Amino acid sequence: MPNLSVNVGKLRLKNPLTVASGVFGWGEEFKDLIDLKKIGAITTKTITLKPKEGNPQPRIFETASGLLNSIGLENPGLDIFVKEKLSFLKEIRIPVIVSIWANDLEEFVELTKRLNRIRDIDGIELNLSCPNIKSSKTKDQRVRLIAQDPKATKRTVKAIRRVTSKALIAKLSPNVTDITELAESAEDAGADAVSLINTFFGLAMDWEKQTLITGGLSGPAIKPLALRAVYEVYKSVEIPIIGTGGIMNTTDALEFIMCGATAIGIGTANLVNPKITIEVIDGLRNYLKNRKIADIKELIGSFHHS
Ligand SMILES: Cc1cc2nc3c(=O)[nH]c(=O)nc-3n(C[C@H](O)[C@H](O)[C@H](O)COP(=O)(O)O)c2cc1C
Repeated sequence: MPNLSVNVGKLRLKNPLTVASGVFGWGEEFKDLIDLKKIGAITTKTITLKPKEGNPQPRIFETASGLLNSIGLENPGLDIFVKEKLSFLKEIRIPVIVSIWANDLEEFVELTKRLNRIRDIDGIELNLSCPNIKSSKTKDQRVRLIAQDPKATKRTVKAIRRVTSKALIAKLSPNVTDITELAESAEDAGADAVSLINTFFGLAMDWEKQTLITGGLSGPAIKPLALRAVYEVYKSVEIPIIGTGGIMNTTDALEFIMCGATAIGIGTANLVNPKITIEVIDGLRNYLKNRKIADIKELIGSFHHS
């Protein structure tokens, strides 16, 4: 049997598959549809210190080969997450990566300190890149992301690194001129891995209702852009990359791995086919078997060497 296991910092995943934050809830909705134990790691929906209501409807809009979402980080907050959701995740017995977002650095640190004390959490993914939250601090109400500013990224990751020994993953935004700069800042500040990419700022018009929907674009439409980001970042940092963006099948997953992703996150595809993660795990195993490749690690970044 080929070896599918990979290491993301100190996280050991039995295969490179994780579910991208926000598209899998807390896993409960999927428990009767797939064998959750088979997934390499679960990445939770982003949580915040206090409960968050999220944005008004409409929050999801289908576009050509893509999905525009504006959920606005709706979540029950840390306390309810720990009390009601974590026990379910823990029972699956696979690594749990908790995605977090905060209003400011102090809150990020507080949230991380509290998560750091919980044994059942294996990794923390910093959502530095949510495109659906307006900053209350800017007069013009424009969306500004930590992951658009290399200095802010460095400052944030550094402060959080000081208060956690868990695997620390910085989730980056494609809404920048040069994503490699941001990945380098995260690496310099002590991140164990980078996760890329979050969604693209987008806008759609609901012609029937004559309304505009702004949000983050995901799905097959963004795959070539995500793949390019992974390819470029692989050349600029040493830490592992979790590649995400429009992965719909095994071939897509292989492309991300060969361009430099150590692990991959599947998001939107779960909404089309809830069995996608398992199908891709089986697909990767068959690919290795058919080509007599003993270890998936041989494929990571292999396009760079050909
Ligand atoms: C409905 C929806 C909700 C999402 N919520 C989050 C979230 O809470 N935190 C986060 O970091 N990313 C969130 N994302 C972004 C995904 O994790 C992923 O980075 C992005 O969708 C690209 O991957 P995909 O094309 O496979 O969906 C969300 C995406 C969608 C479609």
